[in-house]
Amino acid sequence: MCLTIPAKVTKLEGNFAIIQDSNSTRKVLASFIPDLKIGDWLLYASDTAVRKISEVDAKEIISLLESFHPLSSREKLSQTFKDIIAASKERDLFKEEIIYLLRVEGDEKEALFAEADVLRKTYLKDFICIHGIIEFSNYCKNDCAYCGLRAQNNTVERYRMSVKEIVDTAVQAVDKKGYKLFVLQSGEDPFYTDEMLLKIITGIKQRAKAFIFMSVGERSRQAYKKMKEAGASGILFRFETSNPELFKKFHERGKNLQNRLELLEYLKSIGYFIATGSIVGFPGQTIEDIADDVLLIKKLAHMASFGPFVPGNNTPMEGQPTGDVQLILNMIAVLRLIMKTGRIPVVTALETLAGKDIRKQALTAGANSLMFNLTPARYRPLYKIYPNKFHEQENIWEKYGLFKAEESYQMLEERMREEIER
Ligand code: 5AD
Repeated sequence: MCLTIPAKVTKLEGNFAIIQDSNSTRKVLASFIPDLKIGDWLLYASDTAVRKISEVDAKEIISLLESFHPLSSREKLSQTFKDIIAASKERDLFKEEIIYLLRVEGDEKEALFAEADVLRKTYLKDFICIHGIIEFSNYCKNDCAYCGLRAQNNTVERYRMSVKEIVDTAVQAVDKKGYKLFVLQSGEDPFYTDEMLLKIITGIKQRAKAFIFMSVGERSRQAYKKMKEAGASGILFRFETSNPELFKKFHERGKNLQNRLELLEYLKSIGYFIATGSIVGFPGQTIEDIADDVLLIKKLAHMASFGPFVPGNNTPMEGQPTGDVQLILNMIAVLRLIMKTGRIPVVTALETLAGKDIRKQALTAGANSLMFNLTPARYRPLYKIYPNKFHEQENIWEKYGLFKAEESYQMLEERMREEIER
């Protein structure tokens, strides 16, 4: 489901209303909204009014989504900065230019965010999409050094949801809450055979109209192909770092970046919508590495999934410093500059480190979606990838996400198709 900026009715013309938001005036079909008056507030999608909302709620949504970047006066911006921004409109940016933007502070940072915010509004309008994630098992056979769910961490209380439980949770999220896209995630858990995963996908698809993204780690190409045929639309699978040495260092023997990338390329080639990215703030990672992450995301991803490193308890990396929240915001803005229409979610790890106010900051720095946790409450605290995982949801999002609105499904479908074909 998506949240959009409300607009105020300024005029009524037959079946149509003329509405005004902070940026523009437009005409929307409003024939099926009863008793519409001048001065009412509307949520709308694709030139059609969806529902009336109260002025108080409208103002709250506006305050969540409206930008707050003071427009820096151009004299305060360096020529280099201005040249890079101008270049980003014409061509792909070079690594050095990306590094420059990842490092900007002060006025240039504000100007970067303002630029990214305008791009989001231009290319994606004011739709903020809310996706869900169901974490169905915290068992993992791997031993990634950074991850709290690693097999060797015997302090984790492990759980597995049954096929029926997973399907029911997903169907309820669609039917009761209006979710249109969710991720099914687990550790790499061979307990779930390929057949079981197919059963989950078909079980959900038979009962609910929604997009399913699988996040189950390494599986055979054949398994992924079958999942696609069964109705999975996307894959969430991070490459974790674009630096092959770091990749080797943090993963167990036998794992390498090349294999991960080849699998991602394959998944893309068979038509999956790809969400991938990295962890930012690994010990030993340089700004050059992060610029390479940005370039690799641009190359592979329809949705950029990256977040700060949060050191896990009872992992070999316990006690290391956390990733830099400000750097993540810069990275969001840079990705918006170079991906324009790409999906950029505000990820849980960022909210964990910076609290919920970071949502607004990230959304006005170029991000355009949120990921809410749909894991049943009794399991949620056990999915400890890292400590103090953030769970808070804001009622306003779920209240005014375009519930059950067919528009939001169709819109997602169109946008995902456009992204895949791009
Ligand atoms: N800090 C931040 N992100 C982490 N992940 C795993 N461990 C950590 C951590 N300590 C991320 C990985 C994985 C995703 C599910 O969670 O990128 O792909």
